[in-house]
Amino acid sequence: MENTEQTHNSFHDKWEQNRSLAFTETLKEGSDIFNWILNRNGFFSVIEFRQWLSKREHILDAGCGNGRVTALLKKYSSLETDILGIDFAGADVARENLTGLERVRVQQKDLLGDLADLGYFDLIYCQEVLHHTADPRGAFLNLCTRLNDKGEIAIYVYKKKAPLREYADDYVRSQISELPYEKAMESMRALTELGKILSDLKIKVQVPHVPVIGIEAGEYEIQRFIYHFFLKCFWNPSLSYEDNMAINYDWYHPQLCTRHTLEEVESWFLEAGLKIVHRYVDYYGITVRGIK
Ligand SMILES: C[S@@+](CC[C@H](N)C(=O)[O-])C[C@H]1O[C@@H](n2cnc3c(N)ncnc32)[C@H](O)[C@@H]1O
Repeated sequence: MENTEQTHNSFHDKWEQNRSLAFTETLKEGSDIFNWILNRNGFFSVIEFRQWLSKREHILDAGCGNGRVTALLKKYSSLETDILGIDFAGADVARENLTGLERVRVQQKDLLGDLADLGYFDLIYCQEVLHHTADPRGAFLNLCTRLNDKGEIAIYVYKKKAPLREYADDYVRSQISELPYEKAMESMRALTELGKILSDLKIKVQVPHVPVIGIEAGEYEIQRFIYHFFLKCFWNPSLSYEDNMAINYDWYHPQLCTRHTLEEVESWFLEAGLKIVHRYVDYYGITVRGIK
């Protein structure tokens, strides 16, 4: 199956089977997911986040999935703000999840298609999406054509990781991405269990700098150490077992899943003529915000 079609189907199945995945945690102030979204975008309080959203008339959540981040943007923006979520595989689920929220709409759209009919936006938010398209740079530039003057775009893409972790990512993806949803999910059960067992150990290790395999010196929780440098085996105790499995599936199942460097992402912003106002790199990804 062609990569884009496989990736579309992979997300379609994921959202159909896990309609409210991470929805509550995303909206819960102080949860790991809530803090992760705010902090990496440069906001350290709800007040700062609200201020950032406050003057926007039109917001686009590009690649809205099941609508959890669209709901977050709605909660902290002004009552008058219009919010549009677009996604090529999750639109129906997002629409259902966002029913009843005023001034929120959802449309099925491909980020690589013609976006002209969407109009223009003061803020485009695009989290964990571009790296799942066949052309992340092209999709980014396409989104930038929808920015108002002085409009802002905030993106998050996966970072290129340590070499053994990159190898394991590609290897596991090659093993499961052709499997149908149920089988692929089932193959994530043991991997999820591994993440849980390592996490439950609550052991910390002090490791030296090992440049040949990209390990940075420091003290790590054992699960995070394995996760950062060797193998993604996600486990978040605040989520259900099924939700943790779905997050591991989400990582390994879609065939389109590129990883990037900060230099590369910055070059996209320069190409689009944007001024970078914020950049943040963690173990997993790259967050950049830029203004037209
Ligand atoms: C990992 S999910 C992230 C969803 C959401 N942004 C969030 O943070 O919860 C990636 C989403 O990107 C969507 N996607 C991937 N490629 C796309 C494309 N070419 N056009 C539109 N949506 C796309 C998928 O359908 C999926 O819902």
